[in-house]
Amino acid sequence: MKSQSNIQSKKELIPDARWRDFGKHFLRLENSHDESASQDFYLEMYRFLGKVLGPERKTVYELKIKKEFKEKYGHSPKDRHQVRNAVKNSPFFQFWGHMRSNINQEMFYKNQLIVERQIKNLESKAKVRPKKNMGKLALNPDLKVPKYQSFDMHWMPGGYHTEISDKGDISAGALYDSGGIYLMTNGSLGPFNDGAAYSLINFLRKDLPHFKPKNILDLGCTVGHNTLPFKEFWPLAKVTGIDLGAPVLRYAHARSTKMGYAINYSQQNAEKTDFKNSSFDLVVSTMFLHETSKKAISKIFKETYRILKPGGLMVHVEQPPFRYFDDPYEQFVRDWDTHNNNEPFWGPMHDLDLNKIAYNSGFKKENIFEKMIPLIKPEVKNKFSKGVGEWFIFAGWKL
Ligand SMILES: C[S@@+](CC[C@H](N)C(=O)[O-])C[C@H]1O[C@@H](n2cnc3c(N)ncnc32)[C@H](O)[C@@H]1O
Repeated sequence: MKSQSNIQSKKELIPDARWRDFGKHFLRLENSHDESASQDFYLEMYRFLGKVLGPERKTVYELKIKKEFKEKYGHSPKDRHQVRNAVKNSPFFQFWGHMRSNINQEMFYKNQLIVERQIKNLESKAKVRPKKNMGKLALNPDLKVPKYQSFDMHWMPGGYHTEISDKGDISAGALYDSGGIYLMTNGSLGPFNDGAAYSLINFLRKDLPHFKPKNILDLGCTVGHNTLPFKEFWPLAKVTGIDLGAPVLRYAHARSTKMGYAINYSQQNAEKTDFKNSSFDLVVSTMFLHETSKKAISKIFKETYRILKPGGLMVHVEQPPFRYFDDPYEQFVRDWDTHNNNEPFWGPMHDLDLNKIAYNSGFKKENIFEKMIPLIKPEVKNKFSKGVGEWFIFAGWKL
């Protein structure tokens, strides 16, 4: 086991997010003292399991489980699947797994109660009077939610599309915004959860300074956390977000509008949209592909190619594929959500050859690229403030 001083030094790396640091905006949940305390408890538990017990778990693997595996089979586990099988009977791994999975479920269920308690108030706050020059919201009640989204993704009750009230429901949006993503990522995406977009914009402004998109589309935009920064950075651009879920889109539209950004939101399946050929200069997504299936990704790339203008760019922001890591244990850690956190597409997506899919969708080989880019953790005073870590981007020019 690591010494206490070693644990301390690891703890110092942890951004000490607290619920009170979550960005203030007019739809932010109004928590009671006890509700805020429970949010802080979840934040602390995520940190404890990740940054304190995580390294201990690795020590148990290295010193005990790997050694026993080697004695039995004559070699160390070769891939993440062998690691998963090797650790499954370890009480330490079982305890860690139970705690992690339980915290995620608890956090969402507790948040659901907080949202339900104030849903009427939130709904009335979210009512947006149509103003000239503000973004539009277009919903399609007939849109079918594909199978790969028809369950409680990462234990979020009802996923992104389920409605719990009959008129103007925004509960899934409130659940995801005010609690879900901020707590799950330990505040590392910034107080407004928009770090993925700022990381991408930071890359674009530095590496492609002449690229100035006029028409931008965000696929799987959820509540628009990572849609809004494109409008902020390129105020003259037309920015649109699409998603399958009506409640997240209503929330996104109200949030953006009240924050003063004219963004259009539309309920559409990214596999087949109603946009005309050659409409967009930039089609982006953040943390989206890993919640869809292999078949869907192929359709999404084809559709993106169709709606991009010649000279346009497709970019997806994700975590790197498994092939970026030589250590099977690191791959196992990165695959944990697939098997324990109701994220069944996480693993399969990170195994995919996206290059091949993009090529088969029309992108020429020489115009496809992938890259690790610095993680930006926006602060209110400095939107491009550097955080800890990197994002993976997968991209293709339509040339
Ligand atoms: C993890 S969330 C994305 C988060 C968001 N981009 C952000 O940065 O905050 C995945 C979103 O993709 C949406 N989605 C999944 N499949 C989709 C599809 N085929 N078309 C449109 N939206 C989809 C889900 O409804 C969900 O809101």
